[in-house]
Amino acid sequence: MNISKGRLAGNTLLINTDMTTSTINKNIYGHFAEHLGRCIYEGIWVGEHSPIPNTYGIRNDVLNALRRIQVPVLRWPGGCFAEYYHWMDGVGPREYRKRTVNSSWGEVVETNHFGTHEFMLLCDMLQCEPYVCGNVGSGTVQEMSEWIEYMTYPGGSSMALWRQANGRMQPWRLKYFGIGNENWGCGGNMRPEYYADLYRKYQTFIYNYGDNQIFKIASGGIDTNYDWTEVMMREAARFLDGLSLHYYTVPGTWEHKGSATVFTEDEWFITMKKALFIDDIITGHAAIMDKYDPDKRVALIVDEWGTWYDVEPGTDPSFLYQQNTLRDALVAGITLNIFNDHSDRVQMANIAQTVNVLQAMILTQGAMMIVTPSYYVFEMYKVHQNAERLEIQFQSGMYEFNGEQLPQVSVSASKDAAGAIHISLCNISPTAGADVEVHLRGKESRKGTIYGTILTSSDMHTHNTFQQPDAIKPAPFYGVTVTGQSFTAALPPMSVVVLTIKY
Ligand code: AHR
Repeated sequence: MNISKGRLAGNTLLINTDMTTSTINKNIYGHFAEHLGRCIYEGIWVGEHSPIPNTYGIRNDVLNALRRIQVPVLRWPGGCFAEYYHWMDGVGPREYRKRTVNSSWGEVVETNHFGTHEFMLLCDMLQCEPYVCGNVGSGTVQEMSEWIEYMTYPGGSSMALWRQANGRMQPWRLKYFGIGNENWGCGGNMRPEYYADLYRKYQTFIYNYGDNQIFKIASGGIDTNYDWTEVMMREAARFLDGLSLHYYTVPGTWEHKGSATVFTEDEWFITMKKALFIDDIITGHAAIMDKYDPDKRVALIVDEWGTWYDVEPGTDPSFLYQQNTLRDALVAGITLNIFNDHSDRVQMANIAQTVNVLQAMILTQGAMMIVTPSYYVFEMYKVHQNAERLEIQFQSGMYEFNGEQLPQVSVSASKDAAGAIHISLCNISPTAGADVEVHLRGKESRKGTIYGTILTSSDMHTHNTFQQPDAIKPAPFYGVTVTGQSFTAALPPMSVVVLTIKY
């Protein structure tokens, strides 16, 4: 074994197959769709009369692609949009719905054709949990309370009768409800003390009707805004089920973020470094939460994360449309490994955003659709959903660039209900391969059958386009060599690999 003087040598992985630490909540693999650019309109909703094949207005190609990655939960309608969204504008016959202005995102006209019923239909068709974000910044307590009544009250009240008149007889089951979004910024520029009090007030009027139980999520801080978490936990912990956190990986500055497709190794390195930083950020917020909530009752909900670059040249700057390369796949892989590692506290995460916006799963152009390298990571990693996280010991080798170092390999391991073991590995070095020597300890130390899938390319800029939709896609992984009771996985540079061991 590659162990000297009790320390693991570089890239040696020990997996304790009998030691599970926490369940990896499937909602860590969640998504976020905002009324922003072409995410909802064009990307998801085309309307029933569109020549693009659709089911009740929702495009079939996108629906089927999302089904393949088993979306567990979908956050909607924003984002900043949620803070000026008035849900009553989005119900009733579509031709009479109010036409409003999407003030944050290009001042385009919002037809409100995609509203509560359409969103709930989408969730039904995806068989995922809806996660609705309410309006604190410009909405009233009554408006929020009536939205809950509209969605979840069985019948007889004005709101329930209105829902029924609009075609939905049974109440929907709604578990996740967000009370505001980024209330330190686009949600009202509030101080945490003020928002904590508002949160306490608004959440009081979120009722559980019948057997519907709402999991209330407060708007949280961004990046290292630990003060927000401190104040929320100090002032409102007992009213919280979840507290959110936002973190975007921006390689440059907010003014010049950098291109999604044209970048140097320098930018590759900084992107990986910033993506890995989410580990420190979660650790920081979780430590504050531990102080007030040692039993970890309150979940940390990372309901916006992902890469954020300059928009694709020639596209509307407010629409946040960006391409997605192998670099994004690595960011997705290492971030999801980090979330798995924090699954004692992180109970949900929602990558921004599902279609055509930021680190999207799917890009569309008219009737055409492609899936991105990030999509494939979600497809490969779905085996971790609701699996038990396994205790591992791992010392990574180093990726060195310009005198700086990062851990070269990121790993996470889990055991699913059928007893299969899943290991996700990311090699972030663009130039060096990594031979990871894997030792299984415990009942499953005996050999099973190992299967693997890999996502990689020889060029860090590789991405799918409408002309070349399959420029990058997963392939079977043949880099495993078994030696006695252990095996070695030879990871090529810039690769995401998921191994499954079946017994
Ligand atoms: O995801 C884009 C925007 O980023 C969201 O609307 C907002 O919450 C965040 O600042």
